[in-house]
Amino acid sequence: MLSPLLSVTAFAALVHGHGYISSPPMRMPGNATTAACGRSVVADIVRDKTSHVEGLPELAAKDAGYKAAQCNLWLCRGVQFGDNAANVQAYAPGQTVEIKVALTIPHAGSANVSIVDTKTNTIVGRPLLSWPSGYADERQFYGKTLPANQTDFNVTIPTTLGGKCATAGECVSCL
Ligand SMILES: *[C@@H]1O[C@H](CO)[C@@H](O)[C@H](O)[C@H]1NC(C)=O
Ligand SMILES: *[C@@H]1O[C@H](CO)[C@@H](O)[C@H](O)[C@H]1NC(C)=O
Ligand SMILES: *[C@@H]1O[C@H](CO)[C@@H](O)[C@H](O)[C@H]1NC(C)=O
Ligand SMILES: *[C@@H]1O[C@H](CO)[C@@H](O)[C@H](O)[C@H]1NC(C)=O
Repeated sequence: MLSPLLSVTAFAALVHGHGYISSPPMRMPGNATTAACGRSVVADIVRDKTSHVEGLPELAAKDAGYKAAQCNLWLCRGVQFGDNAANVQAYAPGQTVEIKVALTIPHAGSANVSIVDTKTNTIVGRPLLSWPSGYADERQFYGKTLPANQTDFNVTIPTTLGGKCATAGECVSCL
């Protein structure tokens, strides 16, 4: 059977807190992101790759280089595919992918790992993994560590993606 490869740039979970995906590699900003989002957003992400998206709109709005539609802050914090050609991950349907999350400041909440269609910024299919609550609970964190299955876990690439994700950059999973 011929199935398209899933090409994902920087897989990541959606977390309420500060963290980043350490594996597979996250999207990092470069010139394409600066051109779309301005220097302030890029500087913020470079300074702290765990920085959360909620603080970015205000920061971006003050930057003359910010082009809201092009930047699309709520998709991967505006970090552009153009800067991440070397970060594309190709997965086969049914493949197991190990994901490692570095959580620096946990806040209890829900989290999903999903594949996102970058054109529409919508989830493809259902989440690959879902924590309806109790993810990154700081009461389990301070002085200890989070349950290992929250920071190092496997997902399975779906076998049906409705013909999506065959082209690099078409799909992503990022904070
Ligand atoms: C990014 O832009 C800077 C300054 O505009 C330039 O010096 C540098 O070569 C560019 N980097 C890439 C990877 O294009
Ligand atoms: C996670 O996925 C579930 C099921 O699709 C959805 O109801 C929920 O809103 C999602 N949570 C987040 C944080 O996106
Ligand atoms: C994750 O690990 C904890 C123990 O650290 C366990 O209670 C929980 O059931 C595990 N969850 C899953 C989804 O495996
Ligand atoms: C994830 O899958 C890999 C290989 O399939 C396996 O070696 C590893 O133990 C799995 N990790 C977890 C947390 O289940």
